[in-house]
Amino acid sequence: MERQGDFPYASGDLSRLLSDIGIAAKIINHKVNKAGLQDILGAVGTTNIQGETQMKLDVFADNALLNAVKWGGQVCGVGSEENEKYTAFDSEVNRKSKYVMLFDPLDGSSNIDVNVSIGTIFSIFRRNSSVGDLANINDFLQPGDQQVAAGYVIYGSSTMLVYTTGHGVNGFTLEPSIGEFCLSHENMKTPEDGKIYSINEGNLLTCSEGVQTYVNWCKQTDKKTSRPYSGRYIGSLVADFHRNLIKGGIYMYPGTTGAPSGKLRLMYEANPLAFIVEQAGGKASTGTGRILEVKPKDLHQRVPLFIGSKNMVERVEALIAAEKANA
Ligand code: AHG
Ligand code: MN
Ligand code: MN
Repeated sequence: MERQGDFPYASGDLSRLLSDIGIAAKIINHKVNKAGLQDILGAVGTTNIQGETQMKLDVFADNALLNAVKWGGQVCGVGSEENEKYTAFDSEVNRKSKYVMLFDPLDGSSNIDVNVSIGTIFSIFRRNSSVGDLANINDFLQPGDQQVAAGYVIYGSSTMLVYTTGHGVNGFTLEPSIGEFCLSHENMKTPEDGKIYSINEGNLLTCSEGVQTYVNWCKQTDKKTSRPYSGRYIGSLVADFHRNLIKGGIYMYPGTTGAPSGKLRLMYEANPLAFIVEQAGGKASTGTGRILEVKPKDLHQRVPLFIGSKNMVERVEALIAAEKANA
């Protein structure tokens, strides 16, 4: 609400939308905390558009978010990791709203059953189509630099909501006894240099030479640059990103020979975290360019991701460029 004044034509719709997302986050959090007690662990028996196994909590979180923002009335449509097509809401209230939202309802699915931190990621755009119309695909396929807000929720040792509206990054911790997100991390900034590198190293031999050179550099001993760095990889993007944001570090999911665009999705994983990291003073790159400038062609397209502390991202970019120049 305090930031609302920064937007010349703000009507409070975005604040209401963020509060609806907060409600969904509390509902998902409640369920995540009970995982193991109720019959909510494990797979549903279906696969999503990516051909990945859908977990019961993926589906629950997807419904919780969709319903919270639909009935909140501040969006005309949503796109989700769990659904092949976007959903356009056709009630009069929704048609009249200004925003669309994209989300990864539950990130880190493979960690659900083993009690490791998972998350929710969201991205919000102003619609391109006219207010009053049904949302269409062009409302969603906008480059990341057009985002008006983005954020994530981490269901960790405590539950946090971290978001930006383009005026810095703020983090709110859920105070369970009153059920409210309270401002705990004001104006978050990420260190320009870090000592943590996060990558699924099992894939390293199938990554490009530039990436391999960088990872090997991270492991070399050098007192001046505090190397060797620490390798930390949970396998939940939100959790790996959140730790690196606070402590300084780089998260990498490069392309591999088998999957040249990597694994992560542009619209609801890379873009929102890229907006946040830039607002915190860090960088997000495809290895050859800024994530936020990628022109999307598909709701579910994948993109290589190098994200985190500015100097670390720039170093790996330089090694990738050098490899290209030598080829
Ligand atoms: P999701 O659970 O939404 O499908 O995302 C999983 C992603 C991301 O959270 C994580 O960093 C990455 O997959 C891990 O992939 P690998 O197991 O290939 O390392
Ligand atoms: Mn994910
Ligand atoms: Mn997911």
